[in-house]
Amino acid sequence: MRQPDPRVLNLRVNGEARTLLVAPQQTLLDALRTTLGLTGSKNGCDMGDCGACTVLVDDVPRLSCITLAAEMEGCSVETVEGAPPSPIHLAFDHQVAAQCGYCTPGFVVALTALFRENPRASEDEIRHCLGANICRCTGYTKIIAAALQAQALLLEDAP
Ligand code: FES
Ligand code: FES
Repeated sequence: MRQPDPRVLNLRVNGEARTLLVAPQQTLLDALRTTLGLTGSKNGCDMGDCGACTVLVDDVPRLSCITLAAEMEGCSVETVEGAPPSPIHLAFDHQVAAQCGYCTPGFVVALTALFRENPRASEDEIRHCLGANICRCTGYTKIIAAALQAQALLLEDAP
């Protein structure tokens, strides 16, 4: 059976204008990882259940495994590679909040979005924000500790 023709997609990825060919059914996660070689976003479930594939689309967290790449025309996509080592990365390191690390990019991206929108989010709001991200290793205690430490560091740096 003939495959549908690929489509030209114009978008920004981590601040850079990119043009790529995507198949109509190709997910954003696959386009990022396979076409652009940005393998930071992980495929934990491929079903929208774990958050490991979280990226920001126009500053809003999206699950890239259930987002069609072709829908991204004109959008700005930010992956974990786009964030330079930040207080969030440092806090995850300091708190040893990653074990296998497979879930970590999703947590970092989700927290990036939260602290941009609500720098003084309460612990409850942080926990609620991270409720869609699953970690199979850490038991979450260290992830929450890292989130709180990252928040404190970001607030120290705030103008
Ligand atoms: Fe996308 Fe699990 S890989 S939510
Ligand atoms: Fe292994 Fe979270 S550190 S899944």
